[in-house]
Amino acid sequence: MKYKKYYRKTSLKQPGVGEFFLNEIISKKPKIFLEVGVFHGVTGRNVCEVLHKIHGNDFKYIGLDLFEENEENVNEVIPNTSFSNPLKTIYFKYIKRQNPYSIEAVEELLKKFKNNVSLIKGNSNKLLNKIDMAKINYVFLDGGHEYKTVMNDLNCCNKVIQNDGVVLCDDYDLHQAPGVKKAIDEFVASNNYKCSIICNERFAKIEKN
Ligand SMILES: C[S@@+](CC[C@H](N)C(=O)[O-])C[C@H]1O[C@@H](n2cnc3c(N)ncnc32)[C@H](O)[C@@H]1O
Repeated sequence: MKYKKYYRKTSLKQPGVGEFFLNEIISKKPKIFLEVGVFHGVTGRNVCEVLHKIHGNDFKYIGLDLFEENEENVNEVIPNTSFSNPLKTIYFKYIKRQNPYSIEAVEELLKKFKNNVSLIKGNSNKLLNKIDMAKINYVFLDGGHEYKTVMNDLNCCNKVIQNDGVVLCDDYDLHQAPGVKKAIDEFVASNNYKCSIICNERFAKIEKN
């Protein structure tokens, strides 16, 4: 299945990475999917397309993101939201008149699946422990990249793994964010989980042993 970019920015931009990711989802066929770190919603839209092909309307996608830069989250790694392609800048600024990183823009990108989608705006350090993880089958963890945030997010998602689900973490190999690997390695060791480092060491897939 092809990973489409919808004229926006995404972390999974390198050739083959998006397709690798979608094949991981297809192999597990989750019904309730959580993405922590939605950004422009490109991965969210691709996930919804895949889950719709598998389950029809019987699936749910939940996406959590800050959806804005403010003084509270200056330490979080937020990807550069401006485009290098001037046509894309013109498209969003003058034609769509929309910030593609806003919750409204992501809602619009996902509107085809509006009955299946819940978007939440806020910080995972405050909100993730309020989400009922009991029914979630799959988490794509790609939000804050600070050690403390990744550890918080993994602990909040622990129930997903205990219930035979999967937590797929992005950027395990990202040298600019060493806290990601450190938090994952410690979390996996302390819970005695299985951790597969896949896709040229980019993703860490955490499951029950
Ligand atoms: C690497 S981007 C996500 C990319 C997206 N998953 C994709 O595939 O295109 C990281 C996102 O995490 C969000 N983020 C950073 N810290 C966060 C936090 N503490 N809580 C929620 N979202 C956070 C940022 O706003 C940013 O949109």
